[in-house]
Amino acid sequence: MPNIHAFATQSDLSAAAADLFVQLATASQKPLFFVALSGGSTPQALFKLLATPPYANALPWEQIHFFWGDERLVSPDDPGSNYGQAKALLFDHVPIPAANIHRVKGELPSGLAIVDYVDQLNQAVDDCGRAWPHFDLCLMGMGADGHTASLFPGPISTVEKTQPVMTVTAVYEDRPANRLTLTPLVFNDARYVLFLVTGEKKAEAVTAVLHGPPDPEKWPAQRIQPHHGQMDWFLDQAA
Ligand code: 6PG
Repeated sequence: MPNIHAFATQSDLSAAAADLFVQLATASQKPLFFVALSGGSTPQALFKLLATPPYANALPWEQIHFFWGDERLVSPDDPGSNYGQAKALLFDHVPIPAANIHRVKGELPSGLAIVDYVDQLNQAVDDCGRAWPHFDLCLMGMGADGHTASLFPGPISTVEKTQPVMTVTAVYEDRPANRLTLTPLVFNDARYVLFLVTGEKKAEAVTAVLHGPPDPEKWPAQRIQPHHGQMDWFLDQAA
């Protein structure tokens, strides 16, 4: 059962998430700290906090490597790009080396984007014999339909069960449809998974995912069950 933390407001939640990010990144005994970011609107406040003091000057930016849990297959300057969002809100304001940012090349045809991203994951491996790193922190969001990253409700495909990365055509709000996502193979290998979920429209999914019967086809966020890592859910009162 994950640890569930309820916060009065989204800003309290974002401040706690920023504190946790610093705590994890500075406490890590490893030379490098691997993070997989989520997209959407929820993490925007967190990105802004990390870009400003005291957080910005408390973090060892040279040691932190950023990946994405999912990305929309659009160009990096498209408003729908999760990388573009993180760049504008965070990377452009802190001394993070360009080599530490491992974006999905959403401008490529999906097949090439997958090959490139799998190669980036491969190169980041922190112990031999693995095709992807144990992420030190996976930041996760959740949609009102219970999706997380770009894992959407419906039958769980063989690809999702056997591959670290897959492409998805999503239908969710007015967001870009064609996406690339890490699969639970990678997320569940993480050392720490942090869900940030806010807003009353998520409340039904939160209840179903955390307190309802197992139904990972209907509620994809239930597919995220780290084998050895810790998982926390940060919720605001509305969620
Ligand atoms: C994405 C995200 C996605 C997001 C949820 C919640 O690329 O859209 O990774 O999984 O976390 O859709 O989005 P909000 O934070 O905007 O509610």
